[in-house]
Amino acid sequence: MLAGRRILLIIGGGIAAYKSLDLIRRLRERGAAVTPVMTRAASEFVTPLSVAALAGEDVHADLFDLTREAEMGHIQLSRVADLLVVAPATADLMAKMVGGHADDLASTLLLATDTPVMIAPAMNVRMWDHPATQRNLATLRGDGIRIVGPNEGDMACGEFGPGRMAEPLEIVAAIEGALSDGPLKGRRVLVTSGPTHEPIDPVRYIANRSSGAQGTAVAEALRDLGAEVVFVTGRADAPRPTGMTVVEVESAREMREAVMDALPVDAGVFAAAVADWRVKSASASKIKKTAGQLPVLEFEENPDILRDVSKLAEGRPALVVGFAAETDDVVANATAKRARKGCDWIVANDVSPATGIMGGTENAVVLITADGAEAWPRAAKSDVARKLADRLAEALKKVPS
Ligand code: CTP
Repeated sequence: MLAGRRILLIIGGGIAAYKSLDLIRRLRERGAAVTPVMTRAASEFVTPLSVAALAGEDVHADLFDLTREAEMGHIQLSRVADLLVVAPATADLMAKMVGGHADDLASTLLLATDTPVMIAPAMNVRMWDHPATQRNLATLRGDGIRIVGPNEGDMACGEFGPGRMAEPLEIVAAIEGALSDGPLKGRRVLVTSGPTHEPIDPVRYIANRSSGAQGTAVAEALRDLGAEVVFVTGRADAPRPTGMTVVEVESAREMREAVMDALPVDAGVFAAAVADWRVKSASASKIKKTAGQLPVLEFEENPDILRDVSKLAEGRPALVVGFAAETDDVVANATAKRARKGCDWIVANDVSPATGIMGGTENAVVLITADGAEAWPRAAKSDVARKLADRLAEALKKVPS
């Protein structure tokens, strides 16, 4: 699947640069063309001669190279690639990407492109754990940069921990995923996930036990089929998915706004556990404890995001999928919910504490469509997600894009 694709490989200055030589070989074995770019520091670790020999192409390293500019503008370099891969991505290169710097060829290319970008970070474990790097990582994720690795293990500097660059074959697999020509290529889908937090006052809120695991898995499965995913999430425990637009929200009202902003989409999957009610007048200052007095909270109804989207007169997604968290009469309740909300499918699950589903790694669902109820065997949430994504892709085949 990499045959005929072009990867622009930016090699950063780290000890892991030696693995990039192997990465070039693996990519070329699979028929991909590699345009190599090296930072100044990278050439302290591997020689441009080795890189050029393996890539079968000249190494680009200098931003101010008149001959090269005359042949092909440097900016143009990144435009002809299917994917930009930074391996190894050093802490410094990541920081530059976050800051939008453009003081050498590598950073300029990364700033001047709208081609998808993947990074394979590699650095000392303390550099990786440093709040600055973790902040940068979060920003890059939010910017839609795909991240592969790092792995945990012994490091060249003698320490142990996360920071080793992903192995060349792992990077190849991630590249294949990013370039996949899946059945949802060209489709835009929206996924809501996680709990909402409804404020009581600046320090207290009402939430629920949703971990966001199922919604995250669905978003990843849709991404892996080639969809452009907008992921609107409450504050969830599940790690943020990569390779998609992530919009973080707190309350149901914020979630509704983010969902409406994300439209139009071909399909919407509403996996979030949205609070049905919010505190009517959340206090702007902390409610103080007064001896002998209990606060009384008055509630009001939150917007029903799934119902609002399902009933849109204009701009309704072709396929709207809701979830139903039930503790009793799962199929009957979920079937009624499907009709009430006006969505096309409902993925119903039994969230009674004994099932261990809420917050757990497995799920047992019943898919309810116009054709009736279909019970799926209990499986890992990622398997349920893949099955749902396949079904969704199948259904969208009938919808013109
Ligand atoms: N949902 C939503 N907005 C809300 C409440 C729910 O978008 N304000 C969505 C959920 O994301 C889910 C579906 O509606 O896809 C069903 O959620 P659930 O909590 O099971 O349903 P409720 O409408 O809250 O019904 P009930 O609490 O009576 O079971």
